[in-house]
Amino acid sequence: MNPGDTPGENILLVGFMGAGKSSVGRLAARARGLQFVDLDREIERQAGCSIPDIFDRLGEEAFRQMETDALGHIEPGRGLVVSCGGGIVGSPLNRALLRELGFVVWLTATEEEIFDRVSRTPGRPLLQTPDPRATIGALLAAREPLYREVADLILDTTGRSFQSVVDALFDAYDRRAASAH
Ligand code: S3P
Repeated sequence: MNPGDTPGENILLVGFMGAGKSSVGRLAARARGLQFVDLDREIERQAGCSIPDIFDRLGEEAFRQMETDALGHIEPGRGLVVSCGGGIVGSPLNRALLRELGFVVWLTATEEEIFDRVSRTPGRPLLQTPDPRATIGALLAAREPLYREVADLILDTTGRSFQSVVDALFDAYDRRAASAH
């Protein structure tokens, strides 16, 4: 980037656990030479322990506060690709912050696909329940209107390669940037 260039609008990825936010985010950042921020990893770095440990030792409320703090440290117009934890849309403050921070992309997937993906990647305290499948259904139903409220773009990832999701994302991002000029 040259001095005086503006880095461009941030891209914020939201969506349920297992929707592909980190994978899509990393790939999108690499495709355009942008900086990738994984908010969950930032929280772990700040706390000095893993998310399951934060939930265990301090509880969900403390985690939510750390999540809001981490989001609050993102500045608008920095050209970042930010992957957010699935529950970030739970608070009205976070939803307002997301909308101020840039282009919000909601990654979706069917309940079946989410269940498949999260079963392969452990470490999600909210799914340590007797019936994780039912927990996913209930959380999805509660959160869908909240994701919809903040989304500038909705992209379904079910059965698609992450690369094709990234291509669709930048089609929309570039069109939006062009129409802003
Ligand atoms: C959460 C999702 C997780 C992580 C935490 C809580 C949620 O992130 O922030 O376990 O409330 O949905 P991912 O969506 O990246 O799994």
